[in-house]
Amino acid sequence: MVATVIPRVESLASSGIQSIPKEYVRPEEELTSIGNVFEEEKRDEGPQVPTIDLRDIESEDEVVREKCRAELKKAAADWGVMHLVNHGIPDNLIERVKKAGEEFFNLPIEEKEKYANDQASGRIQGYGSKLANNASGQLEWEDYFFHLVFPEDKRNISIWPKIPSDYKAATAEYARLLRALATRVLSALSLGLGLEEGRLEKEVGGLEEMLLQMKINFYPKCPQPELALGVEAHTDISALTFILHNMVPGLQLFYKGKWVTAKCVPNSIIMHIGDTIEILSNGKYKSILHRGLVNKEKVRISWAVFCEPPREKIILKPLPELVTEAEPAQFPSRTFAQHIEHKLFRKNNPEEKSNK
Ligand SMILES: [Fe+2]
Repeated sequence: MVATVIPRVESLASSGIQSIPKEYVRPEEELTSIGNVFEEEKRDEGPQVPTIDLRDIESEDEVVREKCRAELKKAAADWGVMHLVNHGIPDNLIERVKKAGEEFFNLPIEEKEKYANDQASGRIQGYGSKLANNASGQLEWEDYFFHLVFPEDKRNISIWPKIPSDYKAATAEYARLLRALATRVLSALSLGLGLEEGRLEKEVGGLEEMLLQMKINFYPKCPQPELALGVEAHTDISALTFILHNMVPGLQLFYKGKWVTAKCVPNSIIMHIGDTIEILSNGKYKSILHRGLVNKEKVRISWAVFCEPPREKIILKPLPELVTEAEPAQFPSRTFAQHIEHKLFRKNNPEEKSNK
């Protein structure tokens, strides 16, 4: 059988086309809200994604510590997304991770194709581009590299990029430190709900079962950025998502009925609360709708790490302590796999109405 040739957005972008193929053009009703991302990023009026300083999250001084945790809790409940600063991951390690990803994507497409995934056969790790999953054939303006990074016994380092030579070491160390950061954040979020410190961590699978999946998103320059999206509007299914980027704006959040463009904050990590924590917290913490814009002038790269519960082993539902007569359960019980299926089904059948 001849393998299907998947068109890479990078090859389309470098072919010199002046207009993009129709599969990349968003539906009419969406186009009115897509603007120039550089101008949008400059806007200072209106709500802004909060910046949370984690320096004091484990301070010995209770008052100082509680203040830091309260700010994190507020941002998680109000926005569900934030810029984390003083997160404890060394800047030079983050620079290594970014440099390694950039160098990999700088390789010729033929070289990257050696790592191509095969979504049809379930081999989802590797180099890929989105396949249309509904009748409209809608596509997104990005290519990516996807692989599991933690826990160590579940990852397959042999499929990680061999070039550049620092890729594996830098990415493995980053994953290890991010996993520890996830524990600190989950602890603070648990306490913020009046739960025991380790509760949310345990509910999403703990050190052994929670999976960290890295997705490097590569958004080539787009000749008609006002017609396309790098990533269409969605909420993350994860428990938490941590994102680095190459300081080119693109991320937009749908907050109180309007798209807000995230500013590029130096030395920060963007963190999303995903659907998993929204469900467990019975909606106290929010999983915000977001999307990615593209532009004509600069390539954008982002490094997302999704912290996910195991697909089948855990039933996700609002924690019983958070369900009362006044605040009934907002979400049904589902495994993570069922939650994913349900979202896909709803997307392809938009007239079906139900909870997330
Ligand atoms: Fe996302």
